Amino acid sequence: MKLLHIDASPRTVRSVTRKLSSGFVQALRLKYPGLRVTHRDVGHHPPPFISDAWVGAAFSPADQHDPAMKGVLHHSDELANELLNCDTLLIASPMHNFTVSASLKAWIDQVVRAGMTFKINESGDVEPLVLGKKALVITSRGGYVAGTDYDFQETYLRKILNFIGIRDITFIHAEGVNQGEKEREEAMTKASFDLLNLAKTW
Ligand SMILES: Cc1cc2nc3c(=O)[nH]c(=O)nc-3n(C[C@H](O)[C@H](O)[C@H](O)COP(=O)(O)O)c2cc1C
Repeated sequence: MKLLHIDASPRTVRSVTRKLSSGFVQALRLKYPGLRVTHRDVGHHPPPFISDAWVGAAFSPADQHDPAMKGVLHHSDELANELLNCDTLLIASPMHNFTVSASLKAWIDQVVRAGMTFKINESGDVEPLVLGKKALVITSRGGYVAGTDYDFQETYLRKILNFIGIRDITFIHAEGVNQGEKEREEAMTKASFDLLNLAKTW
């Protein structure tokens, strides 16, 4: 099994999502000794924001790309190919300002690309190209509590992953982690337990 593991927290040792995602990968390694993991740390090494040159190249036919356009798309090609080549996608996503972190959005802008991860067919409809994969998204939220309308993270990630063809998505949330040490421990213990159970059936 090939796993693409995206870490999107800017933090290191205090990061809840990093701790939970590395625990899940460890549990998966026990189940699948041959597991191949590609780790993309966009939190510590954010992909570049897309530029005027990037948009010009990405929205022109590949057979018309000159060396400069190929150069501009090089990073996007690499990231999109990592996604296309995995069996399972694991995204560790901190909630920032009600949604995904800027570094994860930068990764999304690089990989959601016409002709690469989706295409527009002759009738003008969108056809997703990232097929046959399942995804796990681990989130951490400092103050957010389930049931309120401040979550533009799960709704957004579901929609954009669906758009490119990933429909089998599981979300595990650690919520209220900045409400106090006790709340943080409880949220992390519950999420870790859910992740260990999930790893058994993954
Ligand atoms: C810039 C920033 C914005 C944040 N915005 C939110 C928010 O909108 N809602 C929330 O519940 N927590 C928010 N938090 C708290 C984080 O979601 C929480 O600390 C979480 O654990 C981050 O994941 P990490 O520990 O892996 O970095 C924010 C934290 C930062 C640093």
